[in-house]
Amino acid sequence: MSADGAAPFSAFLEGALYDPDHGFYETGGRAGRRGDFVTSPEVGPLFGACLARALDGWWEDLGRPAPFLVDEHGAGPGTLARTVVVAAPACVPALRWTLVERSAAQRDLHPAHLPHVGDLAGDGTSAEPGWAAVGGGPLVASAAARPDRAAHVVVANELLDNLPFDLLERTADGWSEVRVAGAGGPAPTEVLAAAPEGAATWADAAAPDAPPGARIPLQRRAGEWVAASLAQLAPGGRLVVLDYASTTAALAARSPEEWIRTYAGQARGGAPLDAPGAQDVTVEVCTDQLAAAARPPDLDRDQAVALRAWGLDDLVEEGRRLWAERASAPDVAALRARSRVTEAEALTDPVGLGAFRVLEWQA
Ligand SMILES: C[S@@+](CC[C@H](N)C(=O)[O-])C[C@H]1O[C@@H](n2cnc3c(N)ncnc32)[C@H](O)[C@@H]1O
Repeated sequence: MSADGAAPFSAFLEGALYDPDHGFYETGGRAGRRGDFVTSPEVGPLFGACLARALDGWWEDLGRPAPFLVDEHGAGPGTLARTVVVAAPACVPALRWTLVERSAAQRDLHPAHLPHVGDLAGDGTSAEPGWAAVGGGPLVASAAARPDRAAHVVVANELLDNLPFDLLERTADGWSEVRVAGAGGPAPTEVLAAAPEGAATWADAAAPDAPPGARIPLQRRAGEWVAASLAQLAPGGRLVVLDYASTTAALAARSPEEWIRTYAGQARGGAPLDAPGAQDVTVEVCTDQLAAAARPPDLDRDQAVALRAWGLDDLVEEGRRLWAERASAPDVAALRARSRVTEAEALTDPVGLGAFRVLEWQA
């Protein structure tokens, strides 16, 4: 098929994931046990409890700002905010948490079980007078896009793997671009086109040993998102990105079937072009591309190490103790405490969530 009129892979993904009428995230696709895939916040409340401890540390380092502005991008249904609020960190009176979520269907889920004050205006202000106050938190708001004001913490769990990316293929003659014919229709197909000059030069440097047939993702939007987030941080503020990650050169040596993952209904989905809108399409995040677009992170560690640094072992031990005290007449709190043991196993699994990267930048 001719490449004439074929769309970049990123344009296909934009429609398949985010089209207001047919996109996966606008038509009920979501994270959660009753959703399509389970993320760390959806494993249970322990992940949010660990982040709550980290937030207290960062709040102290910043000199206890009030209000304390935390922006969570790609917030999905709002589970992380809920679990942080339940963990009741010391910063709670100052906490102003913004759920930045582009999908209107996901934003509709935000008010449930949260001290929610509605949507922020584009400049980050709220019609709720308490939003700008010193205490009175926690308060939570939603936004369809990045608020136009500084933030103390910007956090994103499994957002960057969901940002549309382009795809390049190494051929015998150099680099080609994988484009999509019939994007927007029910049966799109791949076509190869000449790679734009800049992209081919970049690919030669990013994956110099790629053999013919190798593919690599070009994650411009993820890089731009990191650069914009760093530009938004208040002095001393932090950007924290949690995701499954690799490098461009490492992906060139592996099959794209491994690093482009699709999900639907708690199972792996089909090929990326199959059933547009009916499955999530995600990609391993290339840390070298983020570093090139912005700067290398100040800290890059796996999730198991980061969660332990944020107090995971203490929280599990506390759970074990509470369960032992109440095991003869367990209440809901005792059952939750006991479930910390199994949640910790899932969150630190070295071949699962524990291997995710946690990247931190400090302003
Ligand atoms: C894989 S889900 C992760 C949800 C949640 N963070 C979690 O860990 O369970 C990714 C979410 O990011 C949202 N999203 C995608 N692009 C976005 C953007 N540019 N700004 C804000 N949200 C975005 C999607 O609509 C989706 O809800």
